[in-house]
Amino acid sequence: MAQLIEAVRGMNDIGPDESAPWQHVEQVFRGLMLSYGYREVRLPLVEKTELFKRSIGEVTDIVEKEMYTFEDRNGESLSLRPEGTAGCVRAALQRGWLHQGVQRLWYGGPMFRHERPQKGRYRQFHQLGVEVFGLPGPDIDAENIIITARLWRRLGVAGKVSLQINSLGTPASRARFRTDLVAWLQERAHLLDEDSRRRLTTNPLRILDSKVPETRHLLANAPSLMDYLDDAARAHFAEVCARLDAAGVAWEHNPRLVRGLDYYTYTVFEWVTGELGAQGTVCAGGRYDGLVEQLGGRPTPAVGFALGMERLVALLPAGQVPEADYRPQAYLVMVGEAAERRGQVLAESLRDALPGLRLLAHCGGGGFKSQLKRADKSGAQVALILGQAEAEAGTVGLKPLRGGGGGQQTVPQAQAAQALAALLDG
Ligand code: HAM
Repeated sequence: MAQLIEAVRGMNDIGPDESAPWQHVEQVFRGLMLSYGYREVRLPLVEKTELFKRSIGEVTDIVEKEMYTFEDRNGESLSLRPEGTAGCVRAALQRGWLHQGVQRLWYGGPMFRHERPQKGRYRQFHQLGVEVFGLPGPDIDAENIIITARLWRRLGVAGKVSLQINSLGTPASRARFRTDLVAWLQERAHLLDEDSRRRLTTNPLRILDSKVPETRHLLANAPSLMDYLDDAARAHFAEVCARLDAAGVAWEHNPRLVRGLDYYTYTVFEWVTGELGAQGTVCAGGRYDGLVEQLGGRPTPAVGFALGMERLVALLPAGQVPEADYRPQAYLVMVGEAAERRGQVLAESLRDALPGLRLLAHCGGGGFKSQLKRADKSGAQVALILGQAEAEAGTVGLKPLRGGGGGQQTVPQAQAAQALAALLDG
């Protein structure tokens, strides 16, 4: 036998027994988006590398170490998208969406980062994300967070996640803070871990995110970004918090929350859980008022978030996904050549009459006993039975499989849809 070829490390299949919770999350999210007035966009998986460098930032982990970058056949440097915000801004600019008033958009799909795979962290993972353009106020920041809070309630995970928020202020106030922080840390550089020391010259704000206990301890007395915020940023942050309070969304201010992408200004937030080990951030986002201009557009306020599907699906409580909705309702048993041929026609007429019907038509032949066993195993409520006799008489048997509904009955094929509908309703 030829040697098997395995999937790329960190890139997972979602098997037929695993896809129901994914569909459930997508369906609930799609419904919420519709109800809040957000419209879907579908964007390329590949963009020019320059786009990610200019938006996410040259010295971020994502751009420095994690992108799948390659030259295409024209010698152009392209990258698989590591996130969705940059591509969404690119599309909005290129397609002129920003001239058409406020845009509330959402997207979903795979993202790619060459990280070290572990539970909850993959090289191909999936996000559902939102981006809003043209609204500068705290109302829309709050709306984004309130949407996610509602999503957690709908999915039954509200008790497992908590909200952390912070304000990063304006680029100017952040620059002042950065200068002071670097000076403060340089005096203590010998106390820093190696990674943080390297970041001192590249991306010092990320040091605040360090997970190294000694570094965290040291940082307890470091200058705080909060002290550098201007009045406008302070007022914006206070208003977001007040609106969350009014909506009954609990939050915690985490002054060390800085995020791993450079484009954020003002509000940033993360929904975290203690249930997934080290990879505890289920959803993250914030405001990025400078990015549109940075990518060649006119200054345009923007805010958004993205959630990690793998992490969210892992949090879903057992029994939350309505599995019954994915099982067939009826299983068509056909024994003998005449019945098989007639059965396929009957199945199509049932689908015409009952458009939502989930009907599994047996294929591959076999006797009554083995087909009925399959019918039972499929989880269907009713077996439709077509043997030689029924095929000749133009009838079909209906056999309830899950108790209730009485015994087996035989009806003319023309009345099969009606009889089946009555059984499924009962
Ligand atoms: P992010 O924090 O890089 O933000 O990613 C958002 C979420 O994607 C994370 O909270 C996590 O749940 C999931 N995620 C990230 N990396 C992985 C991975 N390697 N494996 C599994 N899940 C992962 C962004 O991507 C921003 N674009 C969010 C945003 C939208 N901000 C404004 N608008």
